[in-house]
Amino acid sequence: MASILPLGLALYFSVGCSGGKLASSAWRKPNITTSLTDRVRIADAGVQKAISMLSPDAQFDGQSLAYAAQLYSQMAELDIVSNQTQYADTLRNNFLNAPHRQTNFSDTLAYGHAACRAYVAYNDSVFYDYAVQSWWFGRTYTLSSQEIAAGTTSVKNFTLSKECQDITMAGGTFWVSVLPSSPGARMMDSSSAQSTDANEPTIASLGTGTFFVLSALLAELTSDPTEKNLYLQAAAASANFTQAHLLNSQGLVQDTISALSNASCASNSIHESYDAGLAIEGLSILYSVTGDPATQSLLNSIVVATIPNTAWQHSNGVLTNGDLYLLRGLTSLYARQSIPDLQDDIGQYIAVQFNAVIDLTTANGTNIYGNAWAGPPSSAFSPVNQSNALSALLGAINLRNTSDVSGSPSPEPSSTPTNSPLASPHKSNDAIIIGIVLAVVALMGVAISIWAIRRRRSRSASMRISPVSFSMWDSLRQISGEHTRDAPDQPPPTVGSKSAPGLRPAAAAAAPMVRVGAQDTAQLPPPPNLPTDELVRMLNERLQNRNWDEEEAPPEYPV
Ligand SMILES: *[C@@H]1O[C@H](CO)[C@@H](O)[C@H](O)[C@H]1NC(C)=O
Ligand SMILES: *[C@@H]1O[C@H](CO)[C@@H](O)[C@H](O)[C@H]1NC(C)=O
Ligand SMILES: *[C@@H]1O[C@H](CO)[C@@H](O)[C@H](O)[C@H]1NC(C)=O
Ligand SMILES: *[C@@H]1O[C@H](CO)[C@@H](O)[C@H](O)[C@H]1NC(C)=O
Ligand SMILES: *[C@@H]1O[C@H](CO)[C@@H](O)[C@H](O)[C@H]1NC(C)=O
Ligand SMILES: *[C@@H]1O[C@H](CO)[C@@H](O)[C@H](O)[C@H]1NC(C)=O
Ligand SMILES: *[C@@H]1O[C@H](CO)[C@@H](O)[C@H](O)[C@H]1NC(C)=O
Ligand SMILES: *[C@@H]1O[C@H](CO)[C@@H](O)[C@H](O)[C@H]1NC(C)=O
Ligand SMILES: *[C@@H]1O[C@H](CO)[C@@H](O)[C@H](O)[C@H]1NC(C)=O
Ligand SMILES: *[C@@H]1O[C@H](CO)[C@@H](O)[C@H](O)[C@H]1NC(C)=O
Repeated sequence: MASILPLGLALYFSVGCSGGKLASSAWRKPNITTSLTDRVRIADAGVQKAISMLSPDAQFDGQSLAYAAQLYSQMAELDIVSNQTQYADTLRNNFLNAPHRQTNFSDTLAYGHAACRAYVAYNDSVFYDYAVQSWWFGRTYTLSSQEIAAGTTSVKNFTLSKECQDITMAGGTFWVSVLPSSPGARMMDSSSAQSTDANEPTIASLGTGTFFVLSALLAELTSDPTEKNLYLQAAAASANFTQAHLLNSQGLVQDTISALSNASCASNSIHESYDAGLAIEGLSILYSVTGDPATQSLLNSIVVATIPNTAWQHSNGVLTNGDLYLLRGLTSLYARQSIPDLQDDIGQYIAVQFNAVIDLTTANGTNIYGNAWAGPPSSAFSPVNQSNALSALLGAINLRNTSDVSGSPSPEPSSTPTNSPLASPHKSNDAIIIGIVLAVVALMGVAISIWAIRRRRSRSASMRISPVSFSMWDSLRQISGEHTRDAPDQPPPTVGSKSAPGLRPAAAAAAPMVRVGAQDTAQLPPPPNLPTDELVRMLNERLQNRNWDEEEAPPEYPV
């Protein structure tokens, strides 16, 4: 149904009618039967195994700097969900010594994500500052409306496409990481090539998605209204871009679109679970900050299209290859209870992956995990394989014990800690409103569907796949499968039903505005009434007046 409805209305059908129908009876082990203590212990052992494989400079030898950051993110995550601070000093040190710290962690946004989670875990503003630095780097590779109007950006050497399907290209982020710089480069040595190539025109879901998530996390974390507006605008632009240019008519997030003016908006219609995972993570965080129903609607349609998709999983629901981004996105969604009616389905899906990872991807006692989540185990350590698996191990820690739940749809944590920013105080109102909306929408449905089918058809027909985007896709695909995954996101700590990790700055900062009901838009942060440029200027001034930590010259940036 959702696929033929405009996204703005899909939510009301899916949420109202599906009532949690994503779970399949074919799913392998959708219940958590491992105790909370054991789940924490298993995740900790997996994290420690990965830490033991780091070289003295806290990087994985000869591998992308991003992989280490993915692990840092998961170290912080483990501390968040287990209410500890065991990795605080290690992470302070690791960030301080990151080879590319002084260029704003310039090869990837993985450091920004890790820094956000470390800030949540340890309430140390140095991590927040690192996240902000990483954000600024990402922003350089993100198309602003000014750049679109001018048709140029300082980091690219070609004329920009202003619009595709009559919608601005602003909000797209070029993929920036340590990976093959051009379609021709392939995977010769992915750890040495950078895609900061001024001629690379591809805007990928990976780039747009990682910047989206970082903007949303920062918007959630900061309590400064000016900063919040800046990050919210960036996140909204990413969301808009995703919806307009990366989403196909089935609600699947596709891989790439070209920003080259004469490329006729060439896009790559291939889609992968990590594309969806990043969009889900970004949207779930953005929605928790704004409560905007359009955001929830978009999120819902992506989730509904993504979970049952057989392209990346076996018929028993187990992912064919580990996917950190999908797990992280779903964990973020689950923690923030962004779609209450799908809460149990999402939890079961995460449980399926968790059970598969512990049963099928690791050999007894090694704490080393392979990437074939339906097995067999791999005994060779790989940072990417390990982080992918850790995303499932960490994601399962906050899952509700299903035997505690007697079919109650209430998404409320069993123990609601003080100052829970994610509690949903408007549930009954929501139900009534959804009911009313459903009735109205049902009447409109037929007419709209007809209209939508026509519109979608003409739109799909206008999408093209160029040879360029295909080869870029090949590169990205390999990278994403084996080379570029982030750490899983975890909930703000007050959400976990089993291990409430006490007060954290995220919760405190976000409390006043997080997760208000759709009907409470009056309580939302005031819409930004300053142009982005002005906000950026103000923020820049602020930042320039601060004393940045410049204690020591960093090691050489790797070539
Ligand atoms: C779930 O809760 C039930 C009852 O509260 C308890 O007996 C069971 O051990 C718990 N299971 C896990 C995996 O924590
Ligand atoms: C690096 O980050 C700072 C904020 O921490 C920002 O002011 C600066 O413009 C950024 N530089 C680049 C090149 O991204
Ligand atoms: C763009 O191309 C011109 C001429 O080919 C070259 O001089 C310039 O360095 C290029 N700019 C970037 C950012 O690569
Ligand atoms: C996103 O799209 C909405 C709806 O078209 C629009 O109102 C909003 O201004 C856009 N936001 C950004 C930051 O582009
Ligand atoms: C687009 O223009 C560039 C030069 O600006 C050219 O090299 C390229 O071949 C053109 N691409 C297409 C698809 O026409
Ligand atoms: C795992 O360990 C258990 C008991 O320690 C043993 O019975 C089992 O055969 C082992 N499985 C594998 C695959 O090594
Ligand atoms: C990652 O896992 C896959 C599948 O289990 C395995 O084939 C591959 O060898 C692993 N990578 C490394 C570097 O061990
Ligand atoms: C999972 O737990 C629920 C609730 O306790 C139970 O009804 C269901 O049978 C369990 N499913 C499986 C596959 O064990
Ligand atoms: C988490 O830590 C806080 C403060 O250290 C403590 O008050 C709280 O009881 C802890 N919670 C759990 C679940 O251990
Ligand atoms: C976080 O740190 C600030 C000072 O840096 C302090 O005022 C605040 O109370 C701390 N928050 C928590 C939850 O510990």
